[in-house]
Amino acid sequence: MNKLRIGILTVSDRSSRDERPDLSGPALVEIVQSQNWDIAETLIVPDDLDVLRDTLIMWADSHDMDIILTTGGTGFAPRDITPEATRFVVDKLAPGLSEAMRLESLKITPHAMLSRAVTGIRARVLIINLPGSPKAASENLQVIIPVLEHAVQLLREDAAAEAGHIPDP
Ligand code: MTE
Repeated sequence: MNKLRIGILTVSDRSSRDERPDLSGPALVEIVQSQNWDIAETLIVPDDLDVLRDTLIMWADSHDMDIILTTGGTGFAPRDITPEATRFVVDKLAPGLSEAMRLESLKITPHAMLSRAVTGIRARVLIINLPGSPKAASENLQVIIPVLEHAVQLLREDAAAEAGHIPDP
């Protein structure tokens, strides 16, 4: 199958103003590259509903990427609006991925309960929210890495997706 193309969107007021270095975006880039997948875009945006919504729509409709990973803005702070922007732009929710990330993260920290992250599909693009710290973003992404190629095969209606449905031995 063609390589996965991934967009990485860091959502942070402070990083967007250059007041804090973005460590989470680069941490995710490293994991994506270690899978031999392509980075289609990286960008830092503030915790602004309109900016985030417009960026997600532009990226998802560009046909340049299969998956958009967001990092940040999933918590309880008043300006945390990443899940709301994501819900706004997706056609379907894909709760299993977020459920799995919270489930595994709970084995690491009870604070996993404080992530309101969602996952959804816009046309053929999967949009996945990850928490904001580099540690949390990386831990969460590692949980779902094993299913992402099959997820994209299904979104592309790739005939090879059938192979992924053969039951595990
Ligand atoms: N998940 C994992 N695996 N590891 C973590 O350290 N931190 C949590 C949670 N999920 C964490 C995690 C914390 S402290 C918060 S507040 C929420 O993610 C939301 O993070 P965000 O507001 O940075 O998006």
